[in-house]
Amino acid sequence: MAVDQNKLTEFIGRFVADLGATSAAGNVVVGHRLGLYRALATGPATPEQLAERTETDRRYITEWLRGQAAGGYVDYQPATGLYAMTEEQAFALANPDGPIYLPGAFVFALGALRAERRITEAFRTGAGVGWHEHDSDVYIGCEQFFRPGYIANLVPNWIPTLAGVEAKLRTGARIADVGCGVGASTVILAEAFPHSTISGSDYHDASIELARKRAADAGVAERTSFEVASAQTFTGTNYDLVATFDCLHDMGDPLSAARHVRQALATDGTWLVVEPYAGDTPADNLTPVGRIYYNFSSFLCVPNALSQPGGYALGAQAGEAAIRQVAADAGFTRFRRTAETPFNLVYEVRP
Ligand SMILES: C[S@@+](CC[C@H](N)C(=O)[O-])C[C@H]1O[C@@H](n2cnc3c(N)ncnc32)[C@H](O)[C@@H]1O
Repeated sequence: MAVDQNKLTEFIGRFVADLGATSAAGNVVVGHRLGLYRALATGPATPEQLAERTETDRRYITEWLRGQAAGGYVDYQPATGLYAMTEEQAFALANPDGPIYLPGAFVFALGALRAERRITEAFRTGAGVGWHEHDSDVYIGCEQFFRPGYIANLVPNWIPTLAGVEAKLRTGARIADVGCGVGASTVILAEAFPHSTISGSDYHDASIELARKRAADAGVAERTSFEVASAQTFTGTNYDLVATFDCLHDMGDPLSAARHVRQALATDGTWLVVEPYAGDTPADNLTPVGRIYYNFSSFLCVPNALSQPGGYALGAQAGEAAIRQVAADAGFTRFRRTAETPFNLVYEVRP
């Protein structure tokens, strides 16, 4: 079969963009760690000025700025030799506490890629690789990847879609945040609902240690508690709200987790399930966001599920039908999709 030159050129163009993004990823993380984006966002600078502003080496900064400009992450004005950031670049790259923070996603991706040799081997053997076996940038980057979306949506957009829940949280409710990681969602809920108490749990001890620190730093330690426990064993009953944020699909046994959630809920309690945005079939997910999730999934979600007993490995693109099935198999009778963003689907699940 003859190669179609136009199609080949188009495909190579795509490869060049992809390789450019991959090779730039390390520099995005360097910019994040050294505060380079934040410093440039304060005003245009030559490489010398940015190096001075950030107490870094001029030669490295020169190369970094050129690479950033080539990728469109900063602007370059050849007439003046100045580099600068537009409002939009600064909005997306310079504020770790904003509703969008792109460098955090690169920390997550590079953290996951550090396990490439081990994952390659796991492809051969089918062995699992647990979340706790990855580089710490995986759980710290995961926080940075999801937290902006939780800041933007959890309290203003997601909680109000759950029948009767917001009023309970305002007066004082019992909340469990299961698979809470380093506690981004736990802290957001504690800050928004000071009369409620929140129990965060995760099987990963290092994440729980960091979650305790995050809660203390945010001044919400007295109304949060954390335990190292799996979704199948977390303690407490009579919860008004149990939440699982971007973790149900990671579990080897989401069904027993769902059963445990059910028995931990108060009779009129609600299970808030937040999962990655996904359609029900692979064809639905052949999108830019689906690509991100499938690739995280084969490095993180599927290996983690395979490292646990249970026989499930839903993957990060499980879709509504699979999540609904787990809830139904666990005996929940009411299941409703209540909200969505480009990265998340939100479900209300009730006994
Ligand atoms: C993608 S992270 C999400 C973390 C956090 N909920 C968030 O949204 O930032 C998945 C989390 O699920 C946790 N996890 C995986 N299997 C688990 C299990 N069986 N029980 C409890 N947590 C689990 C991992 O340790 C990890 O913190």
